[in-house]
Amino acid sequence: MNINTIKTEIDFISKNIEAELVVINSAQGLEELRIKYLGRQGAFAQLTGMIPCLSLPERSRIGQEINTLKKRLLSIIEEKQKTIIIKPAVSDKFICDIGLPAIVQEIGRLHPITKVIDEICAVFNRIGFSVVEGPEIETEYNNFTGLNISLEHPSREAFDTFYLKPQGLKVSRCQEEKLLLRSHTSPVQIRMMSSHKPPLAVIVPGRVYRPDAVDASHSFMFHQIEGFMVDENIRFSDLKGILEVFAKDVFGEDIKMRFRPHFFPFTEPSAEVDISCIICRRKQRTENREQRKHCSVCGGKGWLEILGSGMIHPNVFKNVGYDPKKYTGFAFGMGVERIAMLKYGIDDIRLFFENDLRFLKQF
Ligand code: DAH
Repeated sequence: MNINTIKTEIDFISKNIEAELVVINSAQGLEELRIKYLGRQGAFAQLTGMIPCLSLPERSRIGQEINTLKKRLLSIIEEKQKTIIIKPAVSDKFICDIGLPAIVQEIGRLHPITKVIDEICAVFNRIGFSVVEGPEIETEYNNFTGLNISLEHPSREAFDTFYLKPQGLKVSRCQEEKLLLRSHTSPVQIRMMSSHKPPLAVIVPGRVYRPDAVDASHSFMFHQIEGFMVDENIRFSDLKGILEVFAKDVFGEDIKMRFRPHFFPFTEPSAEVDISCIICRRKQRTENREQRKHCSVCGGKGWLEILGSGMIHPNVFKNVGYDPKKYTGFAFGMGVERIAMLKYGIDDIRLFFENDLRFLKQF
């Protein structure tokens, strides 16, 4: 091995590199070129391996030449790399990594309370009721006075109702109305009857508010559905018949109902309505009475209260300008959360409002 052989080799590599680089257009090709020349067994390693055969002064000269060539090669590889990254050979092709996780579009669904409201409204809609909504901020008159709820009634106390500040709404020059978050959906009776003549058959879903401490069966906000019908000759039996259609539709054909006398200021006579317990109704067929005593839903009574109802009080008719001698009507009001809890066997009202998807996904 002499110096000329090594010089020829250096020249050859130098020319070859240029020629090879021109045709490389991928990162992979560039890497192969790097390994071919700069790898552990590459051309440069072989050149360096020849150095010991040379005389001492030749060694440093050839060593320098090899290093210069090596530096040049490294810098042109670096330059080439930039152009490859900016303009990849596959840029005009569609790149699809089928190993990437899919983007799943979650499909939303209705909240269970919305579902129950829709279901109940649909039942009444089918038998001729119109669905009407009222405001959640109500006047004290519509919420209480117009509904024959006296000044002494405990629900009018500040701690039983959310009164709003500033407290007044000017209804005329000398009269100011207190405003509150409605405590029931019954005030829509006053709104509808004051602005419409009978016959009326209306169903009113909506949110109501009471300053109750939150626990498994209470919430400061919940939903109610109010219903009422007014015309000449509307009787208590109409109320019974219509509520039976509703109960059978929502809870099943074999449900039984009972009306218990009760008191509401806006109806006379008034009744609370119970349905046969939907939990031990099923057990009644197979288990004895002793076992039924332990039903966690009705406590063994066999009945569940679902709503309040009655014949609209003559004073309410007077307050809206209807002649109580000419018109009669019935009204009823139910808590939607209670109906939903009974229907789906839910034992804690808070579940409806916590937005826990594990709960909501079940509906
Ligand atoms: N408004 C009553 C409440 O919130 C429910 C109610 C009872 C409504 C009897 C009625 C009715 O229309 O007749 O407790």
